[in-house]
Amino acid sequence: MTHVESDFGSIHGVRDDYVPKDSYLSREFAALEKEKLWPRVWQIACRLEEVPKIGDYVTFEVIDESIIIVRTSETEVKAFYNACQHRGRKLTEGCGHTVKLFCRYHGWRWNLDGSVDEVIDREDWGNALQDPDLQLKGPLIDFWGGWVFINMDRTAQPLLDYLSPVAEVFKNYEFEKLRYRWYKTTILPCNWKVALEAFDEAYHVQTTHRQILPVNDDATGSDSFGKHGMFFSSPENRPFGLPSRRLNMPVPNDTRGVTAAFFEMMERDLKAIVSINALNAARKLVTEGKPGTHMDVLTQLGGFQVGAALAEGSGWPMELSPAEMLKAGLDWHVFPNHVFLPAPDAMLAYRARPNGDDPDSCIFDVWSLMRYAPGAEPPIKREFYPKWQEHDGWGLILTQDFNNLAEVQNGMKSRGFQAARPSPVQERAISNFHRTLRNYVLG
Ligand code: FES
Ligand SMILES: [Fe+2]
Repeated sequence: MTHVESDFGSIHGVRDDYVPKDSYLSREFAALEKEKLWPRVWQIACRLEEVPKIGDYVTFEVIDESIIIVRTSETEVKAFYNACQHRGRKLTEGCGHTVKLFCRYHGWRWNLDGSVDEVIDREDWGNALQDPDLQLKGPLIDFWGGWVFINMDRTAQPLLDYLSPVAEVFKNYEFEKLRYRWYKTTILPCNWKVALEAFDEAYHVQTTHRQILPVNDDATGSDSFGKHGMFFSSPENRPFGLPSRRLNMPVPNDTRGVTAAFFEMMERDLKAIVSINALNAARKLVTEGKPGTHMDVLTQLGGFQVGAALAEGSGWPMELSPAEMLKAGLDWHVFPNHVFLPAPDAMLAYRARPNGDDPDSCIFDVWSLMRYAPGAEPPIKREFYPKWQEHDGWGLILTQDFNNLAEVQNGMKSRGFQAARPSPVQERAISNFHRTLRNYVLG
């Protein structure tokens, strides 16, 4: 322990405005994360919509562990380590549908519930192979908001306790009714935390995404809740749908156009957070809405949005109040590696994982989720880009974010850089993340 402390500073080396750089760069720190973080946390493996039918499965990889998520009955989804009990061959890969889990080495076979179905020439072992020993082993599995979570620590606290207060804050959002609009995965040339933190604050919007300022005021506050962190629109901001105060632009008398322009920009440059119904509601605001105070405009927009959702059949979380939405803020970081931006009928979500043992590389998933009328969901298409630059469909906003990442990872290696200095007002989700992380890894 002394050795570790001398390498990485104390756990309390993190302050609200100070994060030592070692955790982003050091192979030793990555090795400690592998040993002490990833096997002990609840993490998202997939969504339930990925395993709708009995026999549907998804494999989830984190560093060198592989886990099979499989639907075993109408009401049950189970998780198993992806390892044959004979000599360890991985049982499957990717995603698909099967009636048995089958090892392609010597043909041992399991039922979907993990019980052994066949051992070729089983009599060779006499009585040495008992069914309970051959049962596939699994991590803990639990569900929230349509997400499937696993935890390799079988003594871990229950998922809902771990997530607290996230599940309470979002209890009326009906996340379980969201479906993938698109699903893209790429390898980013930076530490998994550098990638995640690009989406853990909105302080960068005024520089990295300056084009958004004419349609949105951008200052934020941020907060921490136990392991988790979040940020919210600053109370000093102009209301949603107006130009940022930074630009000294006048607020027009009729704000319908500028408010609708935000929705148009999000659809053009991100294709996430703003649902198609929301976009259509914003268009209707311009063509059929009435000029009025900005509050009138937002009320009309809300009415159009709920009306469109109900008419189209995709539904709306009717229990969700404006006060709850305000309290929920803009963006949450669920420890350790999940960030999401919620809307009543859509979500943009991220998951970052280390790419093997390399602290300079990570696997990054981007998920755009939306509510659909039953039966209108698009088929799930998982796009994978080994290099993010090889895909030209990220949209302007994610392209701007990704462009920073290698520069951050490499810039931090300079002998002229010792520690990050996150904003204690706008970037508390980041400092809190590192405080929690160091508790796991060094504590
Ligand atoms: S390793 Fe699986 S059957 Fe031999
Ligand atoms: Fe960004």
